[in-house]
Amino acid sequence: MTTEVTTPTSIEAADHVVRLRSIGVAFGGLRALDGIDLDVAPGERLAVLGPNGAGKTTLFNVIAGDIRPTTGSVVLCGRDCSHLPSHARPALGVARTYQKTRLFSNLTVEDNLYLAQTGRQRRHLALFVSERDRSLRERAREVAHRVWLGPMVDATVDGLSHGQRRQLEIGMALAAEPDIMLLDEPASGLSRGERERLSELIEALDPAITLLLIEHDMDVALRVADRVVVMADGIIIARGNPDEIRSNTLVHEVYLGREGGR
Ligand SMILES: Nc1ncnc2c1ncn2[C@@H]1O[C@H](COP(=O)(O)OP(=O)(O)OP(=O)(O)O)[C@@H](O)[C@H]1O
Ligand SMILES: [Mg+2]
Repeated sequence: MTTEVTTPTSIEAADHVVRLRSIGVAFGGLRALDGIDLDVAPGERLAVLGPNGAGKTTLFNVIAGDIRPTTGSVVLCGRDCSHLPSHARPALGVARTYQKTRLFSNLTVEDNLYLAQTGRQRRHLALFVSERDRSLRERAREVAHRVWLGPMVDATVDGLSHGQRRQLEIGMALAAEPDIMLLDEPASGLSRGERERLSELIEALDPAITLLLIEHDMDVALRVADRVVVMADGIIIARGNPDEIRSNTLVHEVYLGREGGR
């Protein structure tokens, strides 16, 4: 279970935007993460695979600052963020999507993207402020185009298809102009056609953005990623490029074996 596929990398050790060292997270007696080391280079696209309960979302929570690790350090863009709360992370260029939707369902695409650009503290007032703030509105509309929702910019979230909501969630993260984007299962629950479209959208994102993607769908993950880590039971059990992961028997046993029906 501890065998790793090691991949030669041309990335210098110092050239990273995410550096995790010895990350451990304990929930009572449960070790959700246990000694995770991970470096992610600028502009890299990293897929995080693994069965349910592997610790993937917990890993994102640690990077985004939504939970504080029990042990270890989180360095983002060279800055030690181990003790920085989540509201401080957008300033460092980190944006994320959540496994469960956080869209405002009775507001329009534009309103959601407008609110995504304003801080949490201002959310209650933001719609009134927006009357005076054309540039944020314009930018919201521009982001809608970037996630292929231009024609739907005035539609309420209630009126969007499931796939379009997923596009909007990516837009919500993009609206913060992040350097690092964390996408937690962006294609879950989508039809094959919708997954295909979402993969294309993710592939077309600005290559300067460092992307970490949790995805159960191997086709989506391996298509979008330059590099893959596979987790199980709180540890990283394999690392490699998509071809190496595809042909890794351990990954097949641990991941595909358990995930067969998914
Ligand atoms: N806030 C929490 N309190 C207690 N246990 C938690 C908490 N968050 C996660 N866990 C547990 O930690 C383990 C890892 O959970 P996590 O959500 O990170 O897994 P995951 O790989 O994202 O799984 P999935 O594919 O189902 O989303 C699981 O056993 C989960 O039940
Ligand atoms: Mg998860």
